[in-house]
Amino acid sequence: MFDEECHFNQPIRWGMVGGGRNSQIGYSHRNAAQRDGLFKLVAGAFDLNASRGRDFGINLGLDSDRCYADYKEMFAAETQHEEGIQAVSIATPNATHYEICKAALEARLHVVCEKPITFTTEEAQELKLIAEKNNCVIGVMYGYSGFPMVQQAREMVQRGDIGDVRIVNMQFAHGFHNEELELTEPALKWRVTPEVSGSTYVLGDSGTHPFNLCGFITGLKVERLSCMRQSFIKSRTPLEDNAHVMMEFSGGAVGTLWASAVNAGSMHQQKIRIVGEKASIEWWDEQPNQLRYEVQGEPARVLERGMGYLYQDAVGVSPDRIGGGHAEGYFESWANIYHCFALAFDAANRNNQEVLSSLIFPGIDAGIDGVRLCEKCVESAEKNAAWVKYK
Ligand code: NAI
Repeated sequence: MFDEECHFNQPIRWGMVGGGRNSQIGYSHRNAAQRDGLFKLVAGAFDLNASRGRDFGINLGLDSDRCYADYKEMFAAETQHEEGIQAVSIATPNATHYEICKAALEARLHVVCEKPITFTTEEAQELKLIAEKNNCVIGVMYGYSGFPMVQQAREMVQRGDIGDVRIVNMQFAHGFHNEELELTEPALKWRVTPEVSGSTYVLGDSGTHPFNLCGFITGLKVERLSCMRQSFIKSRTPLEDNAHVMMEFSGGAVGTLWASAVNAGSMHQQKIRIVGEKASIEWWDEQPNQLRYEVQGEPARVLERGMGYLYQDAVGVSPDRIGGGHAEGYFESWANIYHCFALAFDAANRNNQEVLSSLIFPGIDAGIDGVRLCEKCVESAEKNAAWVKYK
């Protein structure tokens, strides 16, 4: 079970940029970070609209003088503050991630940043170098690897339960944007605007999630890929609301990724199926407490979270918070990941490299991989789905 007694002497003093009132993802960060008492929210520049951001922060219980108009003011003031923030989460639209991350790292803050972390791999690599130089840790909010059954899947693949991996099918194909809702929804409007979203819409917004799971579970590295992308809502062009990607991995395995926002009638449909030589496993984020395990020639099994037949050491620092049968979900996965971020930030502060390297969480390399996927898909799609080398 989850170790509720794991605490620091003082919670990590934590701030947020973005994630203001009515934002889609702000509450998820606050809920996850504060769940286990390892972070305490003490400052924020929550909103593009400074007075609304300040009002929001005060309503969350912050001191009004620590609700800032923007991130520059916040980092400048907090670095002078006796009890200034030690870490910051960035939950703003994509175009701002690079400059805010860079400023945070230069202020020697640990960072949790939303994805895609930057527009280009060069920018993400630059952030990695600054973080290394300043002894800072970067977490990137790929929030699905914290599910215990995803961790079980990883363990099964690593231990050879399904044999060598042959095929990975990935998809995140929702139907929420099958109509031109950006005419009335600001959070969709920026997602289909290249200057704010970057060079992709649904590939970066959704496709990078199962792609991250593929790397987390299998460790496979992409050698080359081919991508076809299009917008069924024409005004979204040049960005895509649907994409199909084929991949070849080093070692001979192959994969496909379907990312869509126009899969009418569907909820998330985020699934990953990993086919090995002798068995397959499949995980679906809408039934996250279960993992299908299909051994060739045997009846299919559904493994359930919290049961004794699972690998008990698979879940590391993020074990079940409640016994099997009760549903754990998205918020627990995020909390598990934030728990790991906290341990990583603390280990970095104590310069404990052994602990730091033992922790598994989506960090800057996962961030770079997500950005590279977007770049390479665009490159391929622009050449009529030509195969392009991944690195
Ligand atoms: P949103 O549009 O709903 O909210 C953005 C928030 O950031 C608003 O409060 C806005 O006022 C604020 N903001 C914008 N620019 C700012 C700035 N320069 N300084 C301070 N605040 C600023 O956007 P949403 O959907 O919450 O997305 C934010 C980020 O989170 C995006 O990068 C998106 O890709 C990512 N995201 C990640 C998810 C995940 O599962 N990891 C899920 C949803 C979004």
